[in-house]
Amino acid sequence: MKEIPHGLVKGEVTGRINWTDSEFSLQITADISRYTAGQFTKLALRDNAGEWVRRAYSFVNSPNQARGQQVMEFLIITVPDGQLSSRLDSLQVSDDVYVGRNPAGFMTLDEIPRYTKDLWLLSTGTAIGPFLALLDEAETQQRFENLILVHAVRTSAELVYQEKIQQLEERYQGKFHYVPIVSRENRKATLRGRIPAFLETGELVNVAGVPLKPERSFFYLCGNPSMVKDTSEVLKQLGYQKHSRRSAGHFSSENYW
Ligand SMILES: Cc1cc2nc3c(=O)[nH]c(=O)nc-3n(C[C@H](O)[C@H](O)[C@H](O)COP(=O)(O)OP(=O)(O)OC[C@H]3O[C@@H](n4cnc5c(N)ncnc54)[C@H](O)[C@@H]3O)c2cc1C
Ligand SMILES: NC(=O)c1ccc[n+]([C@@H]2O[C@H](COP(=O)([O-])OP(=O)(O)OC[C@H]3O[C@@H](n4cnc5c(N)ncnc54)[C@H](OP(=O)(O)O)[C@@H]3O)[C@@H](O)[C@H]2O)c1
Repeated sequence: MKEIPHGLVKGEVTGRINWTDSEFSLQITADISRYTAGQFTKLALRDNAGEWVRRAYSFVNSPNQARGQQVMEFLIITVPDGQLSSRLDSLQVSDDVYVGRNPAGFMTLDEIPRYTKDLWLLSTGTAIGPFLALLDEAETQQRFENLILVHAVRTSAELVYQEKIQQLEERYQGKFHYVPIVSRENRKATLRGRIPAFLETGELVNVAGVPLKPERSFFYLCGNPSMVKDTSEVLKQLGYQKHSRRSAGHFSSENYW
């Protein structure tokens, strides 16, 4: 048995939710450093040859919630032939899993420019996870006037965390706007297509009911790198600039691969 590599700690699976045949959430306890909503850490297991395979996964729950840091939740999709995700899919309650000691990532509340009144959270697939963590924060509720959560998935079965979304609708009282999008299924009252196209045509804005204004709007883009690329192009065409610490702008992104 090889030693645990530097930077990983042993954790335990304490809960599991199966959303579809290939999408699931794991609840994990592990003694890692304090994280911030919007961040990710590594999950790791050994492969058949005994080599460690580690990948990044975003926290779905805020550390400031009741069980936050004690029970960390991750939303995972099994990538066909994926080295780690297929192994994580076989984990059950009380199994060991290894967790990165030091969380990382800049898709946090601190990085959002102070002018922002309307925060647009644009996600594909499992990238809704870090946005749910951000929406769990009391600061999010106090600081912004509108929160728009856009979740684009292939089929409606992947519109996960509906109960949580309902709770957010109640908690935010009109400030929270949830826009589900499916791309490979016709579903009554749900947009069918892709985020960049709906942004370009103005349909996303119509459905959300929140106008885009450069002096109020900030966008976080997360998930499929081609969605991030295409959406960034549309945002630029609409007159928005990429944000960085050195040069303030209107949008930032995190690619999942
Ligand atoms: C900052 C960050 C946060 C992330 N958070 C999450 C998360 O919360 N939940 C989650 O499920 N994944 C997340 N990922 C992706 C995750 O780290 C792994 O890449 C993914 O689980 C695939 O790993 P694998 O070893 O199974 O696949 P690998 O054997 O490494 O194969 C990966 C290849 O599969 C393809 N692929 C197709 N769909 C995906 C996909 N959804 N993710 C990654 N690669 C894909 C890509 O071509 C990629 O090169 C995140 C990635 C980053 C960089
Ligand atoms: N979702 C499933 O049913 C399923 C099942 C088993 C395994 N997997 C595997 O899991 C991995 C991740 O799948 P996923 O469904 O979570 O993620 P995904 O393939 O990134 O799809 C999520 C959403 O992003 C959209 N998208 C893709 N490219 C885009 C672009 N350039 N601009 C805007 N939107 C774009 C997709 O639309 P389009 O549909 O138009 O591409 C889909 O609505 C893949 O390897 C997949 O093979 C998925």
